[in-house]
Amino acid sequence: MQTQEEFLTLRDHMQTVIVGQSHLIDCIMIGVLTGGHLLLEGPPGLAKTTAVKTLATGVHASFQRIQFTPDLMPSDLTGSDVFDPDKNKFEFVAGPLFHEIILADEINRAPPKVQSALLEAMEEKQITVSRHTHILPELFIVMATQNPLEQAGTYSLPEAQLDRFLLHVPLDYPDQDEELEILQRDRRTHFGDDVVVKETRLTPETVLKARHEVAEIHIEPSLDQYVIKLVHATRKLGDWIEGWHDYVEFGASPRASLALVRSASAYAYLHGRDYVIPDDIVAIANNVLRHRILLNYTAQANNVSADDIIDRLIKLVPIP
Ligand SMILES: Nc1ncnc2c1ncn2[C@@H]1O[C@H](COP(=O)(O)OP(=O)(O)O)[C@@H](O)[C@H]1O
Ligand SMILES: [Mg+2]
Repeated sequence: MQTQEEFLTLRDHMQTVIVGQSHLIDCIMIGVLTGGHLLLEGPPGLAKTTAVKTLATGVHASFQRIQFTPDLMPSDLTGSDVFDPDKNKFEFVAGPLFHEIILADEINRAPPKVQSALLEAMEEKQITVSRHTHILPELFIVMATQNPLEQAGTYSLPEAQLDRFLLHVPLDYPDQDEELEILQRDRRTHFGDDVVVKETRLTPETVLKARHEVAEIHIEPSLDQYVIKLVHATRKLGDWIEGWHDYVEFGASPRASLALVRSASAYAYLHGRDYVIPDDIVAIANNVLRHRILLNYTAQANNVSADDIIDRLIKLVPIP
């Protein structure tokens, strides 16, 4: 795998800016390596914006942050046909989605029409405006953020469409040592000394090449079976966990199986292997599955979360 060493410099690059949050960094790299979109969930101030910006500088890609607000319109994302009086005709003026890396900040603050314009662009990698189709950049990935605590004046994402996101990544607060390091780095930056951001030689072309290599990573038929068993178990929970048979409204779709194999392949690549091992699947299973399992009220009343279900299934479904 020619690109691997070069790609791993992206982790160094990100770690010189972001303190801790190593699972976030892994997930971001998996998104880049598979072309998958990420939903980052957590309160403000946990380095989401910083991480995505740092990613963009690391891969030398074009970057756009879009703040979602209640008054946003779909055409504010996609662009629209604007009349050009000189040429006496309409010309397409591209919107902010026409960039390689998009940070869609606080997507639950925009109304459903805008959300679906984004979700459609994520799925199709193209945008249709007055019957003309415009292709988005090949690298195109969306990192969307959402604050779980904010409820008033927000619009929940349509649950049935959440599986457009490859990974759902909840963020945690740093511990005390990490927070001290954040302070110290900030001070060093402020005084302008000793800030060594490790540069990468990555380019969007190298990233696309890496994506091909990840797609070719070997996965044993028995591991395909394991993935399918795990995903199917979310649909027939009662077969695996006694008393939990009526907790799931609907389980994960075949998109989940595809996402799990792709993410596990990228995880293997990040760990220097050209074949998938069971640990790769286990390591990323929660991020792939948690937003694809819709729980019902019985589960909520019994305080059972999607993560609880996934954790139990990982213990129960035999690893080949
Ligand atoms: N883990 C971290 N590593 C480095 N800086 C951090 C970290 N967590 C928070 N910060 C700092 O806190 C501030 C808020 O970060 P930001 O990326 O804007 O958060 P968010 O987008 O999640 O609201 C920034 O100055 C950022 O550098
Ligand atoms: Mg932010």
